[in-house]
Amino acid sequence: MMPMASDDSRPDLLQTGPLMPMIERQLDTHFRVHRLDGPQGAAILDTVAPHIRAIATGVGASGARNNVTAALMDRLPKLEIVSNFGVGYDSVDAVAAGARGIVVTNTPGVLDDEVADLAVALTLSAVRRLPQAERYLRAGKWPQGGFPFSPTLRDRSIGIVGMGRIGQAIARRLEGFDRPIAYYTRRPVEGLAYAYEPDLIALARKVDVLIVIVPGGASTHHMIDAAVLEALGPNGILVNVARGSVVDEPALVKALQDGTILAAGLDVFEHEPNVPAELIALDNVVLLPHVASATHMTRNAMGQLVVDNLTRWFGGEPPLTPVPETPVPPVRKG
Ligand code: NAP
Ligand code: 8YV
Repeated sequence: MMPMASDDSRPDLLQTGPLMPMIERQLDTHFRVHRLDGPQGAAILDTVAPHIRAIATGVGASGARNNVTAALMDRLPKLEIVSNFGVGYDSVDAVAAGARGIVVTNTPGVLDDEVADLAVALTLSAVRRLPQAERYLRAGKWPQGGFPFSPTLRDRSIGIVGMGRIGQAIARRLEGFDRPIAYYTRRPVEGLAYAYEPDLIALARKVDVLIVIVPGGASTHHMIDAAVLEALGPNGILVNVARGSVVDEPALVKALQDGTILAAGLDVFEHEPNVPAELIALDNVVLLPHVASATHMTRNAMGQLVVDNLTRWFGGEPPLTPVPETPVPPVRKG
């Protein structure tokens, strides 16, 4: 935490958890930073809450999401802006922020290609069993015989749940694989050639690979449930690069255990960084520790956007990437 100096005109900012060093360095330059994860913990709010004008938030070192709730906002009467590290901002109550005239920003666009690359890699890994094949080689089993044949993408059709920035980047890549692509969203996207399916169960029934890339939050909670998995069927492969909350994880474990679906590829989990032991024990699932955007280049671009949204706001300019719930930045209060 920066010392409080009487001639220090930097705005007071609350940091809810650890952020990348390149973000923290810049925040320390432009703001008086008060950390919720510092030695005082939440008790720091007792002294700094009346002064806080900005929040920088993201995912804690433990992987846990740090919630910016209406209750927290109500403790911060001077709060103007919440800058979230990540395009997904399900840990920020953006509707409550909008109602209080607080701007929320996220990091869209700069990670689309990275996440789409990973989604395709995870899909191929799950279909062709690449991690399992590598484990086989490393275990010294190759001399005893070749790795068993895998399923193929060649006879599959692909469904994408969510067709926003990242969903479209995934679909564009998958066009190169010459497989039919269909998608489900609440509203069809104008100008897309992929088949729109207004019913999620019908989409799951129609395809053999279901890739999930919708936001987290109440409207998508457990959207992939036992019924959708049942519809996906015994040849079906589920790939989740969205949020763990979108999938009913116990239902997925059961579906993978009893052959309701064939396999899965998962980058996200309901209670990160905790992954159920039952999933880890299964051979028909590829598990990644939420790494879809985790390259130096893309994480730096996301981090810079977190800082730029804040510095622009306090420089009197509109933030670059406000979320739809807080679309037009209200006039600055302070
Ligand atoms: P986006 O451009 O806002 O697209 C979201 C898509 O989801 C839209 O097509 C939207 O269409 C659809 N959607 C939203 N709510 C829905 C609902 N209740 N039912 C059906 N479809 C729904 O977002 P994006 O930039 O592509 O990012 C999507 C999400 O991916 C993020 O919010 C984040 O949670 C996740 N993500 C994960 C990683 C990772 O590291 N694994 C990285 C980046 C992003 P409609 O509104 O028409 O329904
Ligand atoms: C990040 C993400 O990994 O942007 C998102 O919504 O899930 C990822 O890009 C996440 O924000 C954790 O840092």
